[in-house]
Amino acid sequence: MACGAKHTLYNISQALIQEGDEVIIPGPYWVSYPDQIVLAGGTPVFIMTDESTGFKITPEQLEKAITPKTRYLILNSPCNPTGSTYSKEELAALGQVLLKQEHVLVVADDIYERLIYDGLIFYNIAQVVPELKSRTIVVNGVSKTYAMTGWRIGYACGPKELMGAMTKMQSQSTSNATSIAQKASVEALNGPQDAVAAMCVEFEKRRTYIVDRLNAMPGVSCFKSNGAFYVFPNFSGCYGKTTPGGKKIENSTDFAAYLLEDAKVALVPGVAFGDDRYARLSYAISMDNIKKGMDRIEEAINNLK
Ligand SMILES: Cc1ncc(COP(=O)(O)O)c(C=O)c1O
Repeated sequence: MACGAKHTLYNISQALIQEGDEVIIPGPYWVSYPDQIVLAGGTPVFIMTDESTGFKITPEQLEKAITPKTRYLILNSPCNPTGSTYSKEELAALGQVLLKQEHVLVVADDIYERLIYDGLIFYNIAQVVPELKSRTIVVNGVSKTYAMTGWRIGYACGPKELMGAMTKMQSQSTSNATSIAQKASVEALNGPQDAVAAMCVEFEKRRTYIVDRLNAMPGVSCFKSNGAFYVFPNFSGCYGKTTPGGKKIENSTDFAAYLLEDAKVALVPGVAFGDDRYARLSYAISMDNIKKGMDRIEEAINNLK
């Protein structure tokens, strides 16, 4: 147990990576993965994806990316920032590649496992390909499912020796996560789960609304993903246009700055997640505010020349 899933992932990178090791990160990726790997002396190896594969890596891409230096693959399903979620069949296909590469571990960041829509069922790769269990590390936490972001509890399970090394690392840095948050997390995990199901119904409604609105805007296309609480629309059709203030939009940073300043809507530029064509919007916010936000984005885009 650590102070959040982020801390857990950091402990993993520090315990596993030797100078020059490679870690495969499917992209668009969560912002902390590459930096944690670089901090540990490793080299991130990105496999970039787009809407054409539902923002998911293919077995062929994975095979090509693996080298003798590969230490582990990070799998984040459902994904931040794309919301994409691997099916059982897709995981089985990736598993077949990994079975042939015995030196490669899998770090499964399952933090959004319960936030999944359209009747999809969550699978971890070790469930689908049990032979991978001995080299899979599962990471989870309470910040997303139970909206306990500030309580800072994350946890992992995996090979005993690695868990021991992570515990040693942590005991010399932060000791333990606060006991109060530990108790609260036990309650969250063991207590009634109806709030999670109710939240999923609400998230699914918001996701559908936001995707439909975005796809109706000129120059915008948004993949309808089925997990987490993010959408990752492609705004590149708005690039090259000029704002009412006379500024040319060249990239996702300009686009996000324009929306922030002129429309008072905050989104995260896609460049932070490895692809400048996109931006990330979170729908962990009320439907009223989503509606207001969509109206403002639409107006701002219509005002571009
Ligand atoms: C994919 C992913 N992994 C891990 C985390 C970290 O979660 P925690 O709040 O438990 O540190 C986040 C939070 O944004 C995330 O999106």
